[in-house]
Amino acid sequence: MNNHHRQTAPFVFFSILFLLHPSHAQPHPHTVCIIGSGIGGASVAHFLRLYSDDPQSIGQITIFERNGVVGGRMATVTIAGETFEAGGSILHPKNYHASNYTDYLNLQVKKPNHADDSLSLGIWDGHKFIYRTLNSNSKLPIIQRFVSIANSIKLLVRYGVFSLLRMDSFVEVMLNKFLRYYEGFEARPVFESVEGMLKWAGLYNLTTRTLGDELVEAGLSSLLIQELVTVITRINYGQSVNMSGLAGAVSLAGSGGGLWSVEGGNWQMAAGLINRSDVDLHLQEEIESISYMGDFYELNSTKGKSYSCQVTVVATPLDELDILFNPRISIPPRKLQHTHATFVRGLLNPGYFGLKVLSDIPELVGTIESDDLPFSSISILKQHEKDMTYKIFSREPMTDALLDDIFSSRVETIKINWGAYPHYEAPERYAPFILDNNHLYYVNAFENAASSMETSAVSAENIARLILSRLPDKVDKNSPNLKSGDSSDMHSEL
Ligand SMILES: Cc1cc2nc3c(=O)[nH]c(=O)nc-3n(C[C@H](O)[C@H](O)[C@H](O)COP(=O)(O)OP(=O)(O)OC[C@H]3O[C@@H](n4cnc5c(N)ncnc54)[C@H](O)[C@@H]3O)c2cc1C
Ligand SMILES: *[C@@H]1O[C@H](CO)[C@@H](O)[C@H](O)[C@H]1NC(C)=O
Ligand SMILES: *[C@@H]1O[C@H](CO)[C@@H](O)[C@H](O)[C@H]1NC(C)=O
Ligand SMILES: *[C@@H]1O[C@H](CO)[C@@H](O)[C@H](O)[C@H]1NC(C)=O
Ligand SMILES: *[C@@H]1O[C@H](CO)[C@@H](O)[C@H](O)[C@H]1NC(C)=O
Ligand SMILES: *[C@@H]1O[C@H](CO)[C@@H](O)[C@H](O)[C@H]1NC(C)=O
Repeated sequence: MNNHHRQTAPFVFFSILFLLHPSHAQPHPHTVCIIGSGIGGASVAHFLRLYSDDPQSIGQITIFERNGVVGGRMATVTIAGETFEAGGSILHPKNYHASNYTDYLNLQVKKPNHADDSLSLGIWDGHKFIYRTLNSNSKLPIIQRFVSIANSIKLLVRYGVFSLLRMDSFVEVMLNKFLRYYEGFEARPVFESVEGMLKWAGLYNLTTRTLGDELVEAGLSSLLIQELVTVITRINYGQSVNMSGLAGAVSLAGSGGGLWSVEGGNWQMAAGLINRSDVDLHLQEEIESISYMGDFYELNSTKGKSYSCQVTVVATPLDELDILFNPRISIPPRKLQHTHATFVRGLLNPGYFGLKVLSDIPELVGTIESDDLPFSSISILKQHEKDMTYKIFSREPMTDALLDDIFSSRVETIKINWGAYPHYEAPERYAPFILDNNHLYYVNAFENAASSMETSAVSAENIARLILSRLPDKVDKNSPNLKSGDSSDMHSEL
């Protein structure tokens, strides 16, 4: 860190000092501090490097991560010697940032074990399966094909052809609007607010109403909404169709075909981007306070250290953190939805589901909204020779007594409590991207629209452009314009 950044004298004196000091005759690159090493923080670093053609504009980039590993909500869990995604797991074929990162970093794409239509699904209401697909254990393609057709017919009969088509087109319309965020710089402005960003793409209205209301208006049958759609929102966001419409639409998109993940773990996207962006990474260092000091921010960490940064980026949800902001910032209150991810190596108990044999239990057990349902979903992650690895999502922790009911045997159990994503309530209200009108930025303001790995990357890309467009010292320090160029900006804050 440069000592000059620590001084608190008015900016004019700072500038004079600056000019007198021969080694600083060049414009001085800006130090950027990023809090959080998830895909959001890693993407900000990546795009800052990618977009700053002038090497003098962005200097040191430091990322602070309170955990011992990078990736945040992209993390793996190892159970019985095998590794699975514990947090953000599935990517959509149109998640272009994630897809480009995977190419750029030479990572491998992993397709799900099952072709999507061969995975058996059952919808459990707490007492019985109200809907289930046929399960084919046949290896014969002709039989599989037949079962798949039979399942399609079953689906169409229960939920209605038109309802299903309307659901498809509802998702398609949303996706096409979202694609505008990949347009080139000429066509796509830099957004200063989440509202502005959503309105420009035509997505804002979806965040002002519930998914349920949107789907009723789109003409979906209420059975489809209460069952299949509910199953999907419960799996992807742990919430009902009362969640807001855009996040709901994103979760429906996450149930389509062509889904993928990164072989070995999605967290490697963050690790790779950080590795290649010339970042000074501070693991196990939590930022406790962020103080605006006039021409820089002072960040204090739990290690008792202080850092000065001209630009500070918060790349983590602020909802459950107690970072002290000085001066205080004010953002709309938001609750996080906690999702308990429980991983079990063992065997389900068919008796719990009123069944006689294990193979009658669908590979994916989804659920509808009902007070007496202790879990949102149970799915098979992997079939081993004698037993399986399952993943359970629930809103409340799974107690051992409950697990002993649901499973006939358990070799290993791992429980993770995630502050997973916002609890979506329409109409959504947004924190600003720029928290203080200066150089304090907030990537996760966009999470009220929809939380996913890709939306974090999309928000981060915009934030990188926003930072570069608002750098205070775009003017050459040696030019006579120095004072008029910068001082107005700075003095208003002193
Ligand atoms: C169970 C679960 C399933 C999900 N499924 C999917 C899915 O299938 N597909 C999908 O796209 N998305 C999914 N998501 C959502 C997705 O994982 C997140 O939206 C995304 O990873 C968020 O990335 P981020 O970088 O914005 O935040 P995070 O990944 O949360 O990163 C923030 C980082 O900041 C660190 N941090 C916080 N405070 C401080 C501090 N004071 N000082 C230093 N460091 C700090 C945290 O430790 C964390 O590492 C899922 C999430 C969960 C929990
Ligand atoms: C992904 O990479 C391709 C090829 O380099 C590029 O044309 C495209 O714009 C990139 N997409 C995004 C979203 O950056
Ligand atoms: C959003 O809603 C407003 C007010 O109801 C309406 O005027 C506008 O046309 C809608 N925008 C889109 C893109 O549907
Ligand atoms: C959804 O909201 C409606 C109206 O507020 C309420 O009656 C209903 O119980 C809610 N449903 C769920 C599953 O929370
Ligand atoms: C970092 O990237 C370089 C290539 O730029 C690669 O050789 C190295 O293995 C990477 N390190 C990690 C820890 O990923
Ligand atoms: C941060 O640390 C510095 C140096 O130790 C100290 O002077 C300052 O008061 C601290 N700021 C806050 C907000 O605690």
